[in-house]
Amino acid sequence: MRDLKENCLRKSIPLNNDWEFTLDFNEGVFDLNNTKGFSKVRIPHTMVETPFNYFDEGIYQHDAAYRKTIEILEEWKGRRIALKFDGVAHRAVVYLNGERLYENLCGYTSFEVDITSKAIYGKKNTIVVEVDSREDQNIPPFGYVIDYMTYGGIYREVSLEISGMLHFKDLYAIPTISSDIKKETKTFKEASCRANLKLQFSLSDSLIDNTYKETCHAKIELKLIDDKEIICLRNYPLLDYINSDFLANLKEGNALIEEEIDIEKIRPWDVTYPKLYTLVCELKSEDQTLDVWECKIGFRKAEFKEDGFYLNDRKLRIRGLNRHQSYPYVGYAMPESMQRLDAEILRFELGVNAVRTSHYPQSKAFINRCDELGLLVFTEIPGWQHIGDEAWKNVAIRNVANMVTQYRNHASIILWGVRINESVDDDEFYKKTNAVARKLDSSRATAGVRYLKNSSLLEDVYTYNDFSHDGTNAGCEPKKKVTSNRNKAYIISEFNGHMFPTKSYDSEEHRLEHAIRHAKVLNDFYKNEDIAGAFGWCMFDYNTHKDFGSGDRICYHGVMDMFRNPKLAAYVYEAMQGVRPVLEVSSSFDIGEHPAGSRGNTYIFTNCDSVKMYKNDIFIKEYTHKDSPFKNLKNGPILVDDYVGDIMLKEEKFSKKQNDTVKKCLNYVARFGMNHLPAEILLEAGKALTIYRMTFADAYALYQKYVGNWGGTSTAFRFEGYKDGKKVLTVTKKTSSKLHLELDVSSTNLVDDKTYDVAAIRVKVKDENNNLACFFNDSLPITISGEGLEIIGPKKVKILGGMGGTYLKTRGVASKTKVRIDLPEEWSGIDTAKELEFNIEC
Ligand code: GAL
Repeated sequence: MRDLKENCLRKSIPLNNDWEFTLDFNEGVFDLNNTKGFSKVRIPHTMVETPFNYFDEGIYQHDAAYRKTIEILEEWKGRRIALKFDGVAHRAVVYLNGERLYENLCGYTSFEVDITSKAIYGKKNTIVVEVDSREDQNIPPFGYVIDYMTYGGIYREVSLEISGMLHFKDLYAIPTISSDIKKETKTFKEASCRANLKLQFSLSDSLIDNTYKETCHAKIELKLIDDKEIICLRNYPLLDYINSDFLANLKEGNALIEEEIDIEKIRPWDVTYPKLYTLVCELKSEDQTLDVWECKIGFRKAEFKEDGFYLNDRKLRIRGLNRHQSYPYVGYAMPESMQRLDAEILRFELGVNAVRTSHYPQSKAFINRCDELGLLVFTEIPGWQHIGDEAWKNVAIRNVANMVTQYRNHASIILWGVRINESVDDDEFYKKTNAVARKLDSSRATAGVRYLKNSSLLEDVYTYNDFSHDGTNAGCEPKKKVTSNRNKAYIISEFNGHMFPTKSYDSEEHRLEHAIRHAKVLNDFYKNEDIAGAFGWCMFDYNTHKDFGSGDRICYHGVMDMFRNPKLAAYVYEAMQGVRPVLEVSSSFDIGEHPAGSRGNTYIFTNCDSVKMYKNDIFIKEYTHKDSPFKNLKNGPILVDDYVGDIMLKEEKFSKKQNDTVKKCLNYVARFGMNHLPAEILLEAGKALTIYRMTFADAYALYQKYVGNWGGTSTAFRFEGYKDGKKVLTVTKKTSSKLHLELDVSSTNLVDDKTYDVAAIRVKVKDENNNLACFFNDSLPITISGEGLEIIGPKKVKILGGMGGTYLKTRGVASKTKVRIDLPEEWSGIDTAKELEFNIEC
């Protein structure tokens, strides 16, 4: 919601700047003259900036205080005034002018504090918020161990919401499609159908006696806008609804109006064409706009059936990743631009069509971007395995209500997670959470993530973390082994994760296995047509508690690192998207990276039609996706099984048959070494030596000549990716000696407006052939020239496994600011500093 009209009583004023903060909440914080221990901060704010790794979760746990003075204007008298907090971790107590007004017990949903009757008009008012981030509180997710850090602070935006006394308390829009899409249209893009919009307006009026007259004359004007064109206009005079019940409910904020509209020529919201409309509802009294409510909505039909998920009557396999909302150094505290960026990375880089907001509702900015991008969202209440006592459960039930009411207008959300992630059955508790979700949103299915098979299913969809794949077996279990509820849909809510933690600087074989495990699970998920979706664990590495992770407080479970740089596993996902050409080869072909110098398996990750492989500029083989062992995957990884090609045919004057046999044996040795040949290859090699009268020394010489190994000179490989007959990408794998930097900046135009803005710079150290320097682990100097930016976290750019990054934050100063990152000479041989120029608007 934002200010839409000059003469509207509603205003939304951002309150993110000029806060004072102290880690110590005590009686003294109410005294404005007491500034001891306070520092100036801007929201989103994290209580304590953390190191990258190796720190104790205790460092961010405090009972802290935020303080701010605001002027409440005289002219606002007679209106409703509220403070809105989008996210405060974890317990927040709000005071106005020293008086305790409100306590909030959820770190992941928003809350409002009505200060209408407490504000001093025409004067400065002091807001103090006690923010307690200690983990021993009796609220979700606390109570036992948790595999992610929970941080602390006012980490999402704050605003002052001003409205008329008679105002919308809520607006719930249920846009559905009422006619059969398939019959009417050929493609999603052209699809246009008849739609239905159900609306529930809840109105509130805390001064009902004074404004009764106003209520009688007010009307709700509804506009549905496509781009700038009004495609539907309706008026609902309040007089039509007024009776004694309505008036009684108005005071409680529960006066409800329900309306339904049929609309022609609506384009459905879909993953490929996420069409959004703007819904504007104005509350008008004669010439004045008392209130306005604006939101984006999408018309779609999302159904879970026994055999899968259907979006707009078409079966869609959900391929997603789990996302935490954390970042290096600042935990949860990142502004809108960074939240949006994560959705863009998921959609455009990782090519998934869904995300699970594990394990809590996430920023509205992130979800808004999911709406715009057609990224399906499975969101859930906060919690991790532990269920607490009755008081704890009551908070969890309230969290369901808040999650549903705050997020139900988002087209992207398709599932409500109403169980505590991976908790045991508790029918009494979960009957209540399901009932609350269904009452508040009849349009979406419920789910609840389990690690248990065949557990009690009160939800509409069985969601289960299938960690059965260990690298040797099937990628996932069939639905029937997980749940006996055949008539309900089934989703794999997590896979991989802790089964194979992988650092960006792990050995090549380890990184490859990580990637292949993702490919294997996805492949088997696609094979099982009755599994509606699968969400990999997880999008990126995250800081975690002492009880998890690699001892340095990081869970290296991501297909990306903490800065959102892709590990090899990310290319399994990237290759499945069809827009941006992708070509990556798993091996550097440096034989010292493999036990006994054997090449092992090498895979090509690509969405090209074919890939030509050359060895020292000699053509070896053209691969297509038919060479992928992952038959159910679109663009599955392709196995490189030939290092010889047809050169022996010419050079050794072998017959075709002799060439094929010898080549097969040489390729096996190249990949697995002499000591690990399967019996049939040994037999074939023995036969070949006899038939073609070759000695072992002859064979060894051929091997040295056509494959090469320990003791030979290094080999150069080139891979060329072709799309529609055109070469679109080339990967060259060759020993390297020079390094350079590659910077990927989220934006160089930053806007310091409602609050500070942030730019993410993803940094890669690459060799002269543009391959990642996978064992480059160091920090790089960064210099800022100009007033506009400051570095978040350490004043160096952390690089691990050749990848890293930094975040820059605006300082409220409009300027041009230059940022330079250096790769010192000792590595590059030449000075390869990279410079970026930022334009900061205020
Ligand atoms: C699951 C859990 C996730 C994460 C994952 C690691 O059990 O739900 O939060 O810990 O394991 O694989």
